[in-house]
Amino acid sequence: MTENGSGGKDSLTIRDNRTGREYEVDIHEGDVIRAMDLRQIKVDDGDFGMMSYDPGFKNTASTRSTITYIDGGKGILRYRGYPIEQLAERSTFLEVAYLLLNGELPTQSELDEFEHEITYHTYVHENIRMVMNGFRYDAHAMSMLISSVAALGTFYPGARDVHDAENRRLQIHRLVAKMPTLAAFTYRHHQGLSPVYPANELSYAANFLNMLFRIGGDKYKVNPAVERALDILFILHADHEQNCSTTAMRVIGSSEAGPYSALSGAMGALFGPLHGGANEAVLKMLQRIGTMDNIPTFIEGVKRKEERLMGFGHRVYKAYDPRASIIKKAADEVFEVTGRNPLLDIALELEKIALQDDFFVSRNLYPNVDFYSGLIYEALQFPVEMFPVLFAIPRSVGWLAQWDELMEDPELSIARPRQIFMGSAERDFVPMEKR
Ligand code: CMC
Repeated sequence: MTENGSGGKDSLTIRDNRTGREYEVDIHEGDVIRAMDLRQIKVDDGDFGMMSYDPGFKNTASTRSTITYIDGGKGILRYRGYPIEQLAERSTFLEVAYLLLNGELPTQSELDEFEHEITYHTYVHENIRMVMNGFRYDAHAMSMLISSVAALGTFYPGARDVHDAENRRLQIHRLVAKMPTLAAFTYRHHQGLSPVYPANELSYAANFLNMLFRIGGDKYKVNPAVERALDILFILHADHEQNCSTTAMRVIGSSEAGPYSALSGAMGALFGPLHGGANEAVLKMLQRIGTMDNIPTFIEGVKRKEERLMGFGHRVYKAYDPRASIIKKAADEVFEVTGRNPLLDIALELEKIALQDDFFVSRNLYPNVDFYSGLIYEALQFPVEMFPVLFAIPRSVGWLAQWDELMEDPELSIARPRQIFMGSAERDFVPMEKR
């Protein structure tokens, strides 16, 4: 126990009123106690000891991390210390990927080498394409991607040697490089089009757009404004500390299952409409509202809790999501190229009403990253099923950075929470004829 700046001690005294005993528990990192320190609190020697109960992990830190910092009250997001606004304005996605994975911005030669590494690994084994060919024409793009990443793991059995840092690096580069290829294959399959293979002279975003939209032998001309907008969206989605999917990545990773299994599990978590599936849900919501006249009835329904205003609210941000402000600006630039998305007016009006309405204000409900991203994706001609896929591509970098950090964590242990058992006490089996 140390003295803190206010002259007090960095510890907590807990008095158990059941026994009258007092316990002193260390406070770490400002205001954190270790849950295991509670275990000493017992009524008697046979007692298991005190636990904390935290469904949804609302007040539980599961790791020490150096990757991403969020101050939800102030709307701050930083990767490795760098504000998201500066990265979105001045950096590229692969530069940000290098930063997240290595902790520092790359020098020019480090970036050149990294870009070469990623480019070198963009192709996938033809058999993966054959696996993907087996999906029905209307299979959801995200389900196809989740399965394909898990299937990709069968080509790299050595990937399960998770304690070899060099091997981890190789798998990370493979996955970052191949995600756009697999994602584009899902789209082409959905459209009934033959695949377009990676063009390694293009940037990460341009190569992806080319694999999606090229038709026939002619080179698809990637619009630089669209390429930059997609690169910015990738930067904004690259990491977001210990959210649902990252936690899934770490939980699966903690059993040493290997990055392909962990990444497909993380993608499964991302797919849900309360997480990365929200951009798809926002667009469907805006389409359903359809006209400005329907907005008041829709808002009333939300306030009666019949449904949620998708793209609003966040577990951590209790202010405007900084990513939403950047996306709103990027949307204007995209609409200059593609024409304005008519659903934008409905979105803007919803935001205006919600930011003034006490229901939303009192609950700190502000637009999150997904509120405007779907409008950009739609303007770029992506079908809604591709929206979570577009989230998963850049987030793979964050998941893998978090997994790599976990593998080096001296406190790494298999994730295994406790439960409070509420079921029956022991009882004897009842034969069928007596039930
Ligand atoms: N519309 C209407 N009411 C809402 C909304 C919403 N979007 N979000 C939260 N609330 C209300 C909720 O009903 C509750 O009210 P009350 O206190 O009266 O019971 C209060 O606000 C707190 O909500 P909560 O569900 O306890 O908050 P949470 O931190 O558990 O949930 C959330 C966070 C993101 C799941 C939730 O805000 C939500 O469902 N939002 C809509 C889905 C969405 O946009 N998700 C994308 C999140 S950002 C990107 C990502 O994570 O992938």
